[in-house]
Amino acid sequence: MLSRKANCRRRAHHKCKRPIVRQRTAKQLKRFDDTLVPCQIDSAVRLKNHIQPYFRGDQMVNVLVVYYSRTGNTKAMAEIIAEAAGKEGAQVRLKEVADASNDDLIWADGILIGSPVYFGQPASDIKRFIDDSISVRKQLENKVGAAFVSSGHRAGGRETTIMALLQSFIVHGMVVCGDPISTGGHYGAVASGTPDDRSSQECRGLAKKVVALATKLQST
Ligand SMILES: Cc1cc2nc3c(=O)[nH]c(=O)nc-3n(C[C@H](O)[C@H](O)[C@H](O)COP(=O)(O)O)c2cc1C
Repeated sequence: MLSRKANCRRRAHHKCKRPIVRQRTAKQLKRFDDTLVPCQIDSAVRLKNHIQPYFRGDQMVNVLVVYYSRTGNTKAMAEIIAEAAGKEGAQVRLKEVADASNDDLIWADGILIGSPVYFGQPASDIKRFIDDSISVRKQLENKVGAAFVSSGHRAGGRETTIMALLQSFIVHGMVVCGDPISTGGHYGAVASGTPDDRSSQECRGLAKKVVALATKLQST
C-alpha cells in the first residue's frame, strides 16, 4: 500500500489529474502490485468490477465450444466464440466433435454447438454426438445451450439446422440461448462460408450472452 504522500508524488510525476484512489478501494486490490500508480489502480478496479459478475466465488463459469468442420468455416466461428467467451472470464474448452465427450458436456455450464449446414440439417458427426448424449440425460438440465452454423447459401437451411440443434437442448431440459438483439436477435450465430465481420460480431455476442446467462443461472 502506498502512503498518501507517495501517491501524491506518483500522481505529480505522471501528470495524472484523477483524484487519489480511496484507501478502501486500494485494499480490495491486494493481489495487484503495490507499485501501480493511481490511474492504473483506477483502471484495475474497473476491470475487476467488470469481470467479477462472471465468477462464482472463486470459480469460473465453464463453457464448451464443440464443432464439426470439413473446410474450416465452422471452425473459424468456433474459435471466435471460444476467444470471446474466454475474454468474458469463462473457462473454455474448444473441441472438434471427434475429440469431445459426454464428460465435456457434464463439465460445462454453457454449451455451444456448431455445424455446417448439410442438406438443411446438422452434419452427421454432430448428430451422432448429440445422440450419444442420451447416456447423460438429466445431467445437462439447466445448462445453457446455444448454436452456430455455417452454410453455403443464404437460404440453404441455416435456421432449420440451428433449430435442430436447439431442439436437442430443449429435450435435455437445458436453457436455450438465442443471439442478443445487438447482434441480430434471432436463433444463433450464422455465416455464409467464412465468417465475415457481421458473423464474427454475432459469434462474439452469442458467446458473451451464454457466459452471462450461465453465470446468472449458477448464482440462483
Ligand atoms: C454434404 C454437404 C451438404 C451441404 N448442404 C448444404 C445445404 O443444404 N445448404 C447450404 O447452404 N450449404 C450446404 N453445404 C455447404 C456447407 O454448408 C458450407 O460450405 C459450409 O460453410 C461448410 O462448413 P465447414 O467449412 O465448417 O465445413 C453442404 C456441403 C456439403 C459438403
